Amino acid sequence: PQVNISHGNQRVSAVLPTGESVEVMLYGATVVSWKDSDGNEKLWLSEATKLDGSKPIRGGIPLVFPVFGPPPANHPTSKLPQHGLARTSRWEFLGKSTSESEAAEADLSVKLDFGLSAATLDEAARALWPYTFGLIYSVTLTRDSLTTSLVVTNDDNKPFDVQVLLHTYFRIPDINKIQITGLEGAEYIDKVDNRKIKTQETPAVTITSETDRVYTPKGGADAPIAIVDQSSGRPLYKLSRDNLGDVVVWNPWAEKAVSMPDFGPDDGYRNMVCVEAGAVRGWQTLEPGDAFEGAQTITLA
Ligand code: BG6
Repeated sequence: PQVNISHGNQRVSAVLPTGESVEVMLYGATVVSWKDSDGNEKLWLSEATKLDGSKPIRGGIPLVFPVFGPPPANHPTSKLPQHGLARTSRWEFLGKSTSESEAAEADLSVKLDFGLSAATLDEAARALWPYTFGLIYSVTLTRDSLTTSLVVTNDDNKPFDVQVLLHTYFRIPDINKIQITGLEGAEYIDKVDNRKIKTQETPAVTITSETDRVYTPKGGADAPIAIVDQSSGRPLYKLSRDNLGDVVVWNPWAEKAVSMPDFGPDDGYRNMVCVEAGAVRGWQTLEPGDAFEGAQTITLA
């Protein structure tokens, strides 16, 4: 048995011979499903999300590029919508990467590549951010992990600034029973408290109300992050990062969840937490010909 890849007009999916699977919408190159060999879904996807390209996908792994959050005033990204243009653009499927890794040869892993560039961007989006850029996004599925990595290239003759974020919605059994580790001592911007700068004092982050924080862990991209079961301390997911020094933790909680028309069910906030690897505090300046690469690997524990 071989890796089974299906490529439709809207989505690409891959299934390993052992049963693990991943599904990516061409709209936004948004990963919308990742299942283990027993068919258990690892990502949270809103029941109320649009998947027809009329709105960003609520759930899975939306890609934030080239600006995180609402763009700042008087900046080259100012005209862009919240979280930029990557998640609302139609990407091209570039095919399965040939890899010389043993896992790939034995059909125990598969890497799918997606591309978006100034040349394939629709005109409306191009007018909002008029730079010649290239993006390659790779999604690698193994038996116990999912890696998503983004390479940004500046193909222009002038420099530009970017932010990058992998906005993962993790599916969890109960928000009251998990905690996030690896952030102790980290400075964060508290977006639900006037963007005050605070320090994470406790070893683990528990979520009991609306939470929207931009952490910069000590140890930068090397700090290992995990979502753990509160009572046993057993990790549900481990997150490792490459070149993505910031970690956003977001849960809308009850009231905000209800106020978002594309968020469902209303109590779905109990079964999700966004832990997002990114480079979003400040900007990555890319000179002509330069590239920026950032990646995350989520491992099932
Ligand atoms: C998080 C931000 O990354 O994304 C939040 O920190 C934001 O402020 C959330 O609310 C969801 O954003 P959106 O645009 O998908 O509703």
